[in-house]
Parts: sequence; structure tokens; C-alpha cells
Amino acid sequence: MSPALTARDAGARELMDDPDADARKLARTYGRFGLVNALVSRPGTLYRRDIRPRAARAGRLRILDVGAGGGDLCRMLAWRLRGDRLDAEITALDADERAIRWASAHDRGAGVRYRRALTTDLVAAGDTYDIVVSNHVLHHLDDAELHTVLSDSLRLTAPDGLVSHNDIARSVTARALFAAVTWPISRTLLADSFIREDGLISIRRSYTVAELASIVPAGWTVRAGVPARLELRWEGGRAGA
Ligand SMILES: C[S@@+](CC[C@H](N)C(=O)[O-])C[C@H]1O[C@@H](n2cnc3c(N)ncnc32)[C@H](O)[C@@H]1O
Repeated sequence: MSPALTARDAGARELMDDPDADARKLARTYGRFGLVNALVSRPGTLYRRDIRPRAARAGRLRILDVGAGGGDLCRMLAWRLRGDRLDAEITALDADERAIRWASAHDRGAGVRYRRALTTDLVAAGDTYDIVVSNHVLHHLDDAELHTVLSDSLRLTAPDGLVSHNDIARSVTARALFAAVTWPISRTLLADSFIREDGLISIRRSYTVAELASIVPAGWTVRAGVPARLELRWEGGRAGA
């Protein structure tokens, strides 16, 4: 691996996390997450493999997205479930008031519930879900936050439920792919947003599959995905955690 990516750069700070970040750029960043996720996160796989089959069994599936940002994953799930005539109650959770304000204002009829809170607040309220997901959040967290989010995820998930935390897997390939995919649109679709700079910082902050596997508690499984992805997964009734 290139020297700059050999070790996780946990000290790197993303521009969007600055409380004084330019509001217009931040709004454009939330607005562009959907495009970036369509290119790199493969949310359709999560939907087809994990969510649709469970929704077909559940009647009304309760889904929690931790660190939902602009809420694009939640809206995509809402529309796909509706298209498949399946019922769900989807909660978009984010610690940042600015994200929740933007996402609530851009629900576009998806019917997602938006909440500014921490997972710990939901645990305290006794909430439970069939599926807890996240995308591009693990690398944001420091060690203590990571362990809190993981233990809260288990407390929030029904015994036969699923937790699926998805993120970038740090590698030279991840950086090269992200740089290549975003370069042609950096002055057009991504202009006036933090997407490209923060994406490159995120890759430096991200875990490799082996690093994450070495620090998570027993019962969690780390899977490698493409392109340059990882999934931290817990399945009720299977993992035994
Ligand atoms: C890079 S964004 C990802 C947004 C969205 N999930 C996506 O894939 O586009 C990370 C989000 O996680 C949120 N976040 C970070 N730590 C959090 C925590 N402990 N609890 C809830 N949200 C958190 C941030 O406020 C930010 O909106």
C-alpha cells in the first residue's frame, strides 16, 4: 500500500464535520451523496439481498439508518419498497442537526422519519428495529464512539434482526477509483461541495477489512466487497452475539 495509506489516519478531519462549514457547500454535499452512493456504495445489493426478503416476511419492516446524512439511502429504500408493494417504517438518524434539517426538507414524499439523536438516545427510549444499517459512518467514529455504536446497534436490533454497517475499505484502489470517478465531474456535478475533498480524506480515515476485524467484538463479521468496500455485519440467530 502507498505509504500515505499504510496506516489509518484517524486524525484527519472531514470538512463537512466543521461546525462552521460553509452552509451552501454543505447543502450541496448532502444533495450529492445520492449520486456518490449510487456510484460507489451499491445500495441496490443491500436492498435485494437483505431488505426486500425481510420486508416480504415481516409485514412492516422497521429500518434504522445511523448517520443518514442527506437521507438518500432511506429515501431510496422507501421508494423501492413501495415499488415492490412492501411496507416499512424507516428512520434516518444523524447526530448533526444540519443534516437532519436538510434531509427533512428533501423527503420528497418518501415518508422517512428524520431524527437528530445518537444511537444511545434510541436505546434509552427502548426503540427496536428489524434492520440497523449505516453507510460511510464507521470511519467517522473514534474508538469509543465505534464501540458505542456497535453495542447500541445490537441493543436496538430485534433478536432475529440484522445490522449492516457499510463503508469504504482503505486501499490504493479505493483512492484511485474515487479520484478517477469524481475527477470528470469535480467542476460540474460536484462543484461547490465537499464531496471530492472529503471523499479522499474519508479513504485515509477508513479501515481495512483486517483492521476492523481485529477491533470489533466477537459476533461481528467483516466482509470485503467491491469496489473497495467493507461490510460489518451482525445477524441475529446466526452470529450468536
Ligand atoms: C459521510 S456522512 C454519510 C452520510 C450517509 N450515510 C451517506 O452514505 O451518504 C457521515 C454522517 O454520519 C454522521 N455521524 C457521525 N457520527 C455519528 C454518530 N455517532 N451518530 C449518528 N450520526 C453520526 C455525520 O453527522 C454525517 O452526517
